[in-house]
Amino acid sequence: MKNFTSVNDLPFPGTGSIGDTIDALVQKALAYKSNPLKDKTLGLNKRIGCLFLNPSMRTRLSTQIAAQNLGMDAIVFNVGQEGWSLEFEEEAIMSGSSVEHVKDAAPILGKYFDILAIRTFPSLKNREDDYSELYIKQFIKYTGIPIVSLESATLHPLQSFTDIITISEELSKHPTSGSRKAKIVLTWAPHVKPLPQCVANSFSQWINAWGKSDFIITHPEDYELDEQFTKGAKIIYNQEEALKNADFVYVKNWSTFRDYGKIYTNNPKWMLTNKRWQLTNNAKVMHCLPVRRNVELSDEILDGPMSIVTQQASNRVWAAQTVLSEILTSTL
Ligand code: CP
Repeated sequence: MKNFTSVNDLPFPGTGSIGDTIDALVQKALAYKSNPLKDKTLGLNKRIGCLFLNPSMRTRLSTQIAAQNLGMDAIVFNVGQEGWSLEFEEEAIMSGSSVEHVKDAAPILGKYFDILAIRTFPSLKNREDDYSELYIKQFIKYTGIPIVSLESATLHPLQSFTDIITISEELSKHPTSGSRKAKIVLTWAPHVKPLPQCVANSFSQWINAWGKSDFIITHPEDYELDEQFTKGAKIIYNQEEALKNADFVYVKNWSTFRDYGKIYTNNPKWMLTNKRWQLTNNAKVMHCLPVRRNVELSDEILDGPMSIVTQQASNRVWAAQTVLSEILTSTL
């Protein structure tokens, strides 16, 4: 694996499916969870740079821990706060606020580091710009070293890989009966400000690629996500209907995709409460965090036995460690 920016960067096996590749990576991640230092010299004398153009807690810390578990040095640079503001457009006339072109900065980072990990967010102003993934593509083009997405304008692959690790872990403890596939529901939730579609896009992309569940997405009308990620999932506008017999409920807000970056409704009825949760099959409740309590998810759910959000966030380490290990093994 050279870069890790979406599920499409996973190595496709000669035989088998992408779902089998994901399962193999999940097993590798769970082996790291059992024995975090089993490959403690794999990344010796290698250095990862973690560039943050936007804030983070889980991604930043779990990636550093993952790198250290493999013996790598990890250096974090909060470009958004402490660095020169970067220009990404080709042939830009840089008479505005941008100080340095990525074309000049990225090759230097390629000399300093062996792997570069980057977090960027979308502007939520211009859909074509955001969905072109210009920032991460420019880093891939100009650094010359492997790039790991720590969340981009449209996707959050380390989060989604973590989510499948967590679901697999739960299913190994509580398998579904007979040949029934697990029912996974991604539900929209209210929020106070417009948020990116990244987590929902990425979760949909990975769950569809995994192909081992019945996957339902529920949201108010006009909150449709980009079909390139959701195709294969069943879309239901009635949340109560969607939640029936669910084994996993993934709660997340996103802003509108079609009329880009807007909030059309913030109907509090879409917050997952105990009453709605009772429609499920004793579902485990997931959220990528950070979460707005009693806006997106009620206290009774987040503090209840159905919530696996802490387990989910702690699994971020094993997802990152697996991805870094794959890159170290295959390309460095
Ligand atoms: N879920 C997630 O990416 O969390 P952070 O924004 O804190 O990294």
